[in-house]
Amino acid sequence: MTLCLAFDVYGTLIDPSDLTRQLRQTLGDGAEEFYLRWRDKQLEYSFRRGLMGAYVDFARCTREALVFTCASTAAPFDARAQERLLDAWAHLPAFADSAAGLQRLQQRGARLYAFSNGSQAAVAALLEQAGLADHFAEVVSVEAVRSFKPAPSVYRHLLSRTRSPAEATWLVSSNPFDVLGAQHAGLRCAWVRRSDRAQFDPWGIAPDLQVASLLELAERLAD
Ligand code: 2OP
Repeated sequence: MTLCLAFDVYGTLIDPSDLTRQLRQTLGDGAEEFYLRWRDKQLEYSFRRGLMGAYVDFARCTREALVFTCASTAAPFDARAQERLLDAWAHLPAFADSAAGLQRLQQRGARLYAFSNGSQAAVAALLEQAGLADHFAEVVSVEAVRSFKPAPSVYRHLLSRTRSPAEATWLVSSNPFDVLGAQHAGLRCAWVRRSDRAQFDPWGIAPDLQVASLLELAERLAD
Protein backbone atom coordinates (compact mmCIF):
# COMPACT_ATOMS: atom_id res chain seq x y z
CA MET A 1 0.00 0.00 0.00
CA THR A 2 1.30 3.48 -0.86
CA LEU A 3 2.52 5.37 2.16
CA CYS A 4 0.50 8.55 2.51
CA LEU A 5 1.97 11.43 4.52
CA ALA A 6 0.18 14.68 5.39
CA PHE A 7 2.44 17.50 6.59
CA ASP A 8 1.40 20.30 8.86
CA VAL A 9 2.67 23.56 7.40
CA TYR A 10 3.31 26.36 9.93
CA GLY A 11 6.01 25.17 12.31
CA THR A 12 6.64 21.85 10.53
CA LEU A 13 7.55 22.64 6.89
CA ILE A 14 7.68 26.42 7.19
CA ASP A 15 9.37 28.35 10.00
CA PRO A 16 7.15 31.13 11.42
CA SER A 17 9.74 31.90 14.12
CA ASP A 18 11.63 33.65 11.31
CA LEU A 19 9.31 36.56 12.16
CA THR A 20 11.53 37.24 15.18
CA ARG A 21 14.17 38.62 12.79
CA GLN A 22 11.75 41.35 11.71
CA LEU A 23 10.43 41.87 15.24
CA ARG A 24 13.95 42.27 16.62
CA GLN A 25 14.45 45.54 14.70
CA THR A 26 11.86 47.16 16.96
CA LEU A 27 11.71 44.94 20.04
CA GLY A 28 15.33 43.84 20.44
CA ASP A 29 15.60 41.05 23.02
CA GLY A 30 11.81 41.07 23.50
CA ALA A 31 11.23 39.77 19.95
CA GLU A 32 11.04 36.08 20.77
CA GLU A 33 8.64 36.59 23.68
CA PHE A 34 6.40 38.73 21.46
CA TYR A 35 6.46 36.12 18.66
CA LEU A 36 5.57 33.28 21.06
CA ARG A 37 2.67 35.26 22.53
CA TRP A 38 1.39 36.11 19.03
CA ARG A 39 1.62 32.52 17.83
CA ASP A 40 -0.07 31.15 20.99
CA LYS A 41 -2.90 33.68 20.65
CA GLN A 42 -3.31 32.87 16.93
CA LEU A 43 -3.76 29.18 17.78
CA GLU A 44 -6.01 29.96 20.78
CA TYR A 45 -8.28 31.98 18.48
CA SER A 46 -8.46 29.07 16.03
CA PHE A 47 -9.32 26.63 18.86
CA ARG A 48 -12.01 28.93 20.23
CA ARG A 49 -13.54 29.61 16.83
CA GLY A 50 -13.55 25.89 16.10
CA LEU A 51 -15.39 25.18 19.36
CA MET A 52 -17.82 28.04 18.77
CA GLY A 53 -18.55 26.96 15.20
CA ALA A 54 -17.54 30.49 14.17
CA TYR A 55 -15.01 29.79 11.41
CA VAL A 56 -13.04 32.61 9.79
CA ASP A 57 -10.01 32.49 7.52
CA PHE A 58 -6.92 31.58 9.57
CA ALA A 59 -5.38 34.87 8.40
CA ARG A 60 -8.01 36.66 10.47
CA CYS A 61 -6.96 34.69 13.56
CA THR A 62 -3.39 35.81 12.83
CA ARG A 63 -4.46 39.44 12.39
CA GLU A 64 -6.61 39.59 15.52
CA ALA A 65 -3.92 37.83 17.55
CA LEU A 66 -1.42 40.49 16.46
CA VAL A 67 -3.77 43.31 17.51
CA PHE A 68 -4.26 41.61 20.88
CA THR A 69 -0.55 41.00 21.40
CA CYS A 70 0.36 44.59 20.50
CA ALA A 71 -2.24 45.89 22.96
CA SER A 72 -1.29 43.53 25.77
CA THR A 73 2.44 44.20 25.49
CA ALA A 74 2.19 47.88 24.51
CA ALA A 75 4.44 47.08 21.53
CA PRO A 76 5.04 50.19 19.37
CA PHE A 77 3.66 48.85 16.06
CA ASP A 78 1.38 51.30 14.23
CA ALA A 79 -1.12 50.15 11.59
CA ARG A 80 1.47 50.16 8.79
CA ALA A 81 3.99 48.20 10.84
CA GLN A 82 1.30 45.66 11.70
CA GLU A 83 0.47 45.24 7.98
CA ARG A 84 4.15 44.58 7.27
CA LEU A 85 4.25 41.93 9.99
CA LEU A 86 1.12 40.25 8.63
CA ASP A 87 2.49 40.35 5.09
CA ALA A 88 5.62 38.54 6.34
CA TRP A 89 3.50 35.39 6.93
CA ALA A 90 3.27 35.02 3.14
CA HIS A 91 7.06 35.05 2.76
CA LEU A 92 8.23 32.72 5.50
CA PRO A 93 11.11 30.34 4.73
CA ALA A 94 11.11 26.56 4.81
CA PHE A 95 13.09 24.81 7.56
CA ALA A 96 16.54 23.82 6.29
CA ASP A 97 15.66 20.10 6.11
CA SER A 98 12.20 20.43 4.54
CA ALA A 99 13.02 20.15 0.83
CA ALA A 100 15.57 17.35 1.20
CA GLY A 101 13.35 15.39 3.60
CA LEU A 102 10.34 15.64 1.30
CA GLN A 103 12.44 14.61 -1.67
CA ARG A 104 13.73 11.49 0.09
CA LEU A 105 10.23 10.49 1.13
CA GLN A 106 9.02 10.95 -2.44
CA GLN A 107 11.91 8.87 -3.74
CA ARG A 108 10.73 6.10 -1.41
CA GLY A 109 7.34 6.18 -3.13
CA ALA A 110 5.34 8.08 -0.51
CA ARG A 111 2.44 10.29 -1.60
CA LEU A 112 2.71 13.68 0.11
CA TYR A 113 0.06 16.21 1.11
CA ALA A 114 0.26 19.59 2.81
CA PHE A 115 -2.44 19.92 5.44
CA SER A 116 -3.05 23.20 7.22
CA ASN A 117 -5.28 25.57 9.11
CA GLY A 118 -4.29 28.14 6.47
CA SER A 119 -6.53 28.75 3.48
CA GLN A 120 -5.86 26.70 0.37
CA ALA A 121 -4.73 29.77 -1.60
CA ALA A 122 -2.48 31.14 1.17
CA VAL A 123 -0.79 27.79 1.79
CA ALA A 124 -0.33 27.01 -1.92
CA ALA A 125 1.34 30.41 -2.45
CA LEU A 126 3.45 30.06 0.71
CA LEU A 127 4.78 26.64 -0.32
CA GLU A 128 5.44 27.91 -3.85
CA GLN A 129 7.57 30.87 -2.68
CA ALA A 130 9.43 28.58 -0.25
CA GLY A 131 10.25 26.15 -3.08
CA LEU A 132 8.28 23.22 -1.65
CA ALA A 133 5.08 23.19 -3.73
CA ASP A 134 6.20 20.59 -6.28
CA HIS A 135 6.49 17.86 -3.64
CA PHE A 136 2.77 17.71 -2.91
CA ALA A 137 -0.07 15.86 -4.57
CA GLU A 138 -2.44 18.42 -3.08
CA VAL A 139 -2.77 21.19 -0.50
CA VAL A 140 -5.59 20.25 1.87
CA SER A 141 -7.04 23.12 3.91
CA VAL A 142 -9.46 23.06 6.82
CA GLU A 143 -11.43 25.82 5.08
CA ALA A 144 -13.40 23.20 3.16
CA VAL A 145 -15.03 22.06 6.43
CA ARG A 146 -14.97 25.48 8.13
CA SER A 147 -13.32 24.33 11.32
CA PHE A 148 -9.80 24.10 12.67
CA LYS A 149 -7.37 21.50 13.93
CA PRO A 150 -7.85 19.49 16.14
CA ALA A 151 -11.58 19.06 15.30
CA PRO A 152 -12.19 15.45 14.11
CA SER A 153 -13.98 16.81 11.02
CA VAL A 154 -10.77 18.29 9.61
CA TYR A 155 -8.91 14.96 9.80
CA ARG A 156 -11.88 13.19 8.21
CA HIS A 157 -11.70 15.78 5.44
CA LEU A 158 -8.00 15.04 5.00
CA LEU A 159 -8.75 11.33 4.63
CA SER A 160 -11.48 12.07 2.09
CA ARG A 161 -8.89 13.95 0.00
CA THR A 162 -6.09 11.38 0.31
CA ARG A 163 -8.54 8.49 -0.25
CA SER A 164 -6.34 6.33 1.95
CA PRO A 165 -7.41 4.47 5.10
CA ALA A 166 -6.63 6.17 8.41
CA GLU A 167 -4.23 3.42 9.49
CA ALA A 168 -2.13 3.94 6.32
CA THR A 169 -2.10 7.73 6.61
CA TRP A 170 0.45 9.64 8.67
CA LEU A 171 0.09 13.12 10.04
CA VAL A 172 3.52 14.72 10.39
CA SER A 173 3.50 17.74 12.67
CA SER A 174 5.59 19.71 15.13
CA ASN A 175 2.40 20.80 16.89
CA PRO A 176 1.48 18.35 19.69
CA PHE A 177 -2.21 19.39 19.57
CA ASP A 178 -2.25 18.41 15.89
CA VAL A 179 -0.59 15.05 16.59
CA LEU A 180 -3.08 14.26 19.37
CA GLY A 181 -6.02 15.37 17.22
CA ALA A 182 -4.96 13.18 14.33
CA GLN A 183 -4.33 10.18 16.61
CA HIS A 184 -7.77 10.66 18.10
CA ALA A 185 -9.15 10.49 14.55
CA GLY A 186 -7.33 7.18 13.96
CA LEU A 187 -4.35 8.36 11.90
CA ARG A 188 -0.76 7.40 12.53
CA CYS A 189 1.39 10.28 13.72
CA ALA A 190 4.94 11.53 13.68
CA TRP A 191 5.89 14.36 16.01
CA VAL A 192 8.72 16.51 14.66
CA ARG A 193 10.43 17.91 17.72
CA ARG A 194 11.94 20.99 16.12
CA SER A 195 13.40 22.41 19.32
CA ASP A 196 14.89 20.91 22.48
CA ARG A 197 12.48 23.12 24.40
CA ALA A 198 9.38 21.60 22.74
CA GLN A 199 7.29 19.49 25.11
CA PHE A 200 4.67 16.90 24.26
CA ASP A 201 1.42 17.06 26.23
CA PRO A 202 1.40 14.57 29.14
CA TRP A 203 -1.90 12.94 28.16
CA GLY A 204 -0.59 9.39 28.40
CA ILE A 205 -0.57 9.08 24.59
CA ALA A 206 2.69 8.97 22.66
CA PRO A 207 3.17 9.71 18.96
CA ASP A 208 3.87 6.63 16.80
CA LEU A 209 7.19 8.22 15.92
CA GLN A 210 9.24 11.09 17.31
CA VAL A 211 11.91 12.63 15.10
CA ALA A 212 14.09 15.73 15.15
CA SER A 213 13.88 16.47 11.43
CA LEU A 214 12.24 15.42 8.16
CA LEU A 215 15.50 13.73 7.15
CA GLU A 216 15.27 11.53 10.25
CA LEU A 217 11.63 10.85 9.37
CA ALA A 218 12.67 9.63 5.90
CA GLU A 219 15.22 7.29 7.48
CA ARG A 220 12.88 5.93 10.13
CA LEU A 221 10.03 5.28 7.70
CA ALA A 222 12.42 3.38 5.43
CA ASP A 223 13.12 0.87 8.22
C1 2OP B 1 -1.02 24.57 10.49
O1 2OP B 1 -2.11 24.03 10.38
C2 2OP B 1 -1.42 24.42 12.94
O2 2OP B 1 -0.28 26.22 12.09
C3 2OP B 1 -0.53 24.91 11.89
O3 2OP B 1 -0.30 24.80 9.50
